Amino acid sequence: MVLAADPQTSPPALELTRVVKSFGPVIALRSGSLRLAAGSIHALVGENGAGKSTLVKIIAGLYRRDSGEFTLGGRSVDFTSTAQSKAAGIAVIYQEPTLFPDLSVTENIFMGRQPTNRVGRIDRRAMREEAVRIFERLGVRLDPDRVTEGLSIADQQIIEIAKAISLDARVLIMDEPTAALSGVEVERLFAVARSLRDEGRALLFISHRFDEVFALCDTVTVMRDGAYVDTTPLADTTVDDLVRQMVGRDVTELFPKLPADVGDVVLSVEGLTRRGVFTDISFDLRAGEIVGLAGLVGAGRSEVARAIFGVDSYESGSVTLHGAHLPKGNPQKATARGVALVPEDRRKQGLVLDDGVSRNVTLAIRSKLAKWGLIWTGLENAAARVWASRLEVKTNALDAETGTLSGGNQQKVVLGKWLATEPTVLIVDEPTRGIDVGTKSEVHRLLSELAQQGIAILMISSELPEVLGMADRVLVMREGRLTGQFSRAEATPEAVMFAATADAEAAA
Ligand SMILES: Nc1ncnc2c1ncn2[C@@H]1O[C@H](COP(=O)(O)OP(=O)(O)OP(=O)(O)O)[C@@H](O)[C@H]1O
Ligand SMILES: [Mg+2]
Repeated sequence: MVLAADPQTSPPALELTRVVKSFGPVIALRSGSLRLAAGSIHALVGENGAGKSTLVKIIAGLYRRDSGEFTLGGRSVDFTSTAQSKAAGIAVIYQEPTLFPDLSVTENIFMGRQPTNRVGRIDRRAMREEAVRIFERLGVRLDPDRVTEGLSIADQQIIEIAKAISLDARVLIMDEPTAALSGVEVERLFAVARSLRDEGRALLFISHRFDEVFALCDTVTVMRDGAYVDTTPLADTTVDDLVRQMVGRDVTELFPKLPADVGDVVLSVEGLTRRGVFTDISFDLRAGEIVGLAGLVGAGRSEVARAIFGVDSYESGSVTLHGAHLPKGNPQKATARGVALVPEDRRKQGLVLDDGVSRNVTLAIRSKLAKWGLIWTGLENAAARVWASRLEVKTNALDAETGTLSGGNQQKVVLGKWLATEPTVLIVDEPTRGIDVGTKSEVHRLLSELAQQGIAILMISSELPEVLGMADRVLVMREGRLTGQFSRAEATPEAVMFAATADAEAAA
């Protein structure tokens, strides 16, 4: 076994000191400092908008710093392109990899630098062998010949990592890589990360999940408001300490659920089936009730939500809303009748990134705001202001381009957009994913209050504490079927895990 290097004393593989980056009037980074050592997995934590991704983008050569120092192996660097950063041995793996979908796994790994044989032809055999060798070394099973289209996010990330290894990257950066992964996929990614650490590479890992940070990393750097706060070995710190440093005050991660009166059935789902995706799903949702929909990633929960809302169709079964049939495949009608769906993949499905925050928040209520066919900007801004402040959206201005907000703040904008429709049935898919610890309890409080006001809420979540903490009733799905239904009192972690996996060991 190779012991992790002590990042405090070993020479830094990469070091940033008091780095500053502004975008016009917005100071994204006031004083970013980070010191990565070879043979170490370093965590970077901080609230939404703290400047983590900005720091990464400077390292990646996507942005240039305004001032401050940046050294690599002791030498000062100033990247003006991502190609320069790559050539210097840095690889960045983002949450959503950008591969070429029509090309094979192997071709993607060697994109732009295919080895050639003696006659100058691309040496496919050499490429394939190298790909197989890398996958073996990483202990992953992936078909090097298949096209990447349709691969899971987890597999796409592995391809990016394989690419980094084939380039012999010495520094690997992962910006919230686990957000879209299932438990097994996270474990595989961690195993890969550990073997890269043991080979003496320097890794940076960004996550809002402390369990992951403590499981994987040896050192942690905390950022707040665009500035460096502290770097400590993880063995010497606790979640509470980190949170205090991140937020500057004590916070509880889970907001206590408020009691609400459960009323009549508002949404009734019967025998919903979509071939190969989900089968015979039936349940009721009552006013004032929060129903948690638990299960593993890939169990079909999001697909059921999309079918109810009408973005996807289904073959048999029916949805009844306030006693009347809700036609399938018609999200406009569903919205008009009071259903809102906050999708899982918010950046792709929910936002117009080059529009302002106000416009995005009011996207789903435009017809309500229109007077004589015109949208009055004052009304738009007023509505947007309410939700931006309730959700603590951190932005310079309400007309700032939504794409310039930090990842977590974009998530909050989508949440605001659907809450602004004042739905009677609210379906939220992973409502706190990518949202920092301070705002998480804020989102929970909001959901609790909405239930108190009589809104029926279906909450899909892969975080067991969130489901158990928030739900009046818990439904569990496994492989496209409902496999468990528990009252709040019955819903123990063991019972829910067992229904989700049918594996007594996992549940124990
Ligand atoms: N291109 C840009 N133009 C304007 N402002 C920007 C731009 N990029 C980032 N910012 C701002 O810089 C701040 C830091 O954003 P950054 O994305 O680095 O945060 P983060 O720590 O990664 O947050 P999250 O946890 O939400 O991903 C935010 O206030 C953001 O709005
Ligand atoms: Mg970020």
